[in-house]
Amino acid sequence: MDCPIHHLPWNQITADWLVLPIAEPVDWSPALKQLDQALGGILARLEASGELPKKSGGVLQLRGLTGIASSRMQIVGLGPVGQQTAGSLDRAYTTAARSISDKPDQKIAILLPNAPAGGPDAAQHIRSAIIGCAVGSQGQDLYRTERSRFPFADCHLIASAPVTDTGLQAVEAGRIFADSINLTREVVNRAPADMTPAIFASKAEALAKQYGLTCEVWDQTRLVQERMRAMLAVSAGSAQPPRLVSLSYRGGGADRPTLALVGKGVTFDSGGLSLKPSDSMTTMKCDMAGAGTVLGALVAIARLKLPVNVVGLMGLVENMPDGKAFKLGDILTARNGVTIEVLNTDAEGRLVLADVLSYAVDLKVDRIVDLATLTGACVVALGEDVAGLMTNQDGWCQQVSAAAKTVGEDVWQLPMFDLYDDLIKGDIGDIKNTGGRWGGAISAAKFLQRFVGTTPWVHMDIAGPAFASSSKPWREAGATGMYVKTLVELAKSFT
Ligand code: BES
Ligand code: MN
Ligand code: ZN
Repeated sequence: MDCPIHHLPWNQITADWLVLPIAEPVDWSPALKQLDQALGGILARLEASGELPKKSGGVLQLRGLTGIASSRMQIVGLGPVGQQTAGSLDRAYTTAARSISDKPDQKIAILLPNAPAGGPDAAQHIRSAIIGCAVGSQGQDLYRTERSRFPFADCHLIASAPVTDTGLQAVEAGRIFADSINLTREVVNRAPADMTPAIFASKAEALAKQYGLTCEVWDQTRLVQERMRAMLAVSAGSAQPPRLVSLSYRGGGADRPTLALVGKGVTFDSGGLSLKPSDSMTTMKCDMAGAGTVLGALVAIARLKLPVNVVGLMGLVENMPDGKAFKLGDILTARNGVTIEVLNTDAEGRLVLADVLSYAVDLKVDRIVDLATLTGACVVALGEDVAGLMTNQDGWCQQVSAAAKTVGEDVWQLPMFDLYDDLIKGDIGDIKNTGGRWGGAISAAKFLQRFVGTTPWVHMDIAGPAFASSSKPWREAGATGMYVKTLVELAKSFT
């Protein structure tokens, strides 16, 4: 999708669809007045009759238009300026794009509104418009012979004032965000047979080469040498060999701190010997979404050339039952020496992260964020659209929350009271891998905390938001690519 930006009279734009965003109250700018005049006053009449969709995400399609160069227009509401956020704009523009992406090779033109004080700025509108078009027109038809949604051929942005350098930078940033979100969606949506640990690792290697990241991949032999025994235990029942992928980007000086982004990459979670019921297993290809999000973020950070040092660590395994599978009652010694009693092989994500987090600590990174589709309990607590944050350092957690807020992705911090430590105390080992039913998201985080030492760390449980069970006007069911933007924004704010 090409996204040129120009400054042209709105009535002269030729496209399959003009997209006209409308705020509340309507801003009758000279450009909009001139367009309405050419259209014979239809927009003013729609406003007078209360039929203009001004509410955020409201849409109205006009076809068969005359008097201007295009015959179709999609009007989309942005809501009151004071209530607009990066998130509401992303959703509005995505809604607009989704409902007109039913034909191949379309050329779209977005009539960018003015950005009045008190709402998102012009650059945010540009980024949201591009994210909306690129993400909204990309369906989940990966394996469908007949597609239902078609990526736009071109998305022209029509500015109401001469284009500035800031505008051009926003176009580039929007492109990069959108590409990374779609990349994460694609790797998560791939069937588990097409996204094994080895396939994920080669994909990461290829992307690293393309975008100038340093990539290191550990195979089974190396993982054994590196004492990643908790991770290897999860992998033992699978015919697919495990991998650890490390992507490193050094855009900051040698004296600058390093941020580690750690991702759970269980390419399929059957539950292992603690086998999941069939219905709970159907979507478990999504269990590598943490790793997929880290991959998308690292690519975006490299393409944006952010002046920071970031390392992405992805632990990739498949969790399967088999004669070689790890068992309930097994005692595992993790990379950092902590011994773990296995009480449930379906609590596997924390075992993978245990070793990868220990490795991050060995690398002497300065800050850690891990992302994992870790617990159903977190979905029960916060619903499908919000990630749970758990931390050993509130200041660092607030920085992560602030980044999420800036880009409009919802997160909510859960407490880490000392009392909960008892939940995972082992009977014969140091800790056990389940903490019982109550407070399951927190006891999982308490488990992870044993592997991060004193490094400031935030755990993001993305089990709900990573994979949508149903379509909404602003998103397609399936992988969402959520929190790629948060991680990139966090890297921006990281010094
Ligand atoms: N991958 C699952 C968590 C999950 C649930 C992700 C729903 C996405 C949607 C995880 O490995 C798991 O099975 N967790 C167990 C932990 C329990 C056995 C302590 C759970 O949440 O039931
Ligand atoms: Mn599991
Ligand atoms: Zn899992």
